[in-house]
Amino acid sequence: MAKMTLAQLKALRDDKKKEINRRDTDAHDVTIIVGMGTCGIAAGAKDAMSALIDEIKEHELDNVTIKQTGCMGLCHSEPTVDIKAPGMPQTIYGNVDGDIAREIIVKHVIGKELISKYVLDRPASDIMKEQN
Ligand code: FES
Repeated sequence: MAKMTLAQLKALRDDKKKEINRRDTDAHDVTIIVGMGTCGIAAGAKDAMSALIDEIKEHELDNVTIKQTGCMGLCHSEPTVDIKAPGMPQTIYGNVDGDIAREIIVKHVIGKELISKYVLDRPASDIMKEQN
């Protein structure tokens, strides 16, 4: 491995700090939980998780916590992504691949818009009607 300069080390430290902060739920108002049980991983949850993290970095979102969980009882629709964001109903998206994951960040998290065709659970359908 090549030697790193002080500036490279500082950049690496800052990048890792940001990653660690993404797991600190207290400071953030958006929480994303990816189902990473066996069936989720088999269906591609790692790709969905990587795409979510990349898109969060790309848009420099510092208010988003991303976590993983185990079995959510939704084998039929894995990978699943559960999102809690202010002003939005808690939403579970299903069959999330990398492209859909990126779309979720852009439309749901940034644009505050539900992506109905991927929604699995609509616990606050009354709120959804108000938005349409
Ligand atoms: S093993 Fe797939 S939802 Fe539990």
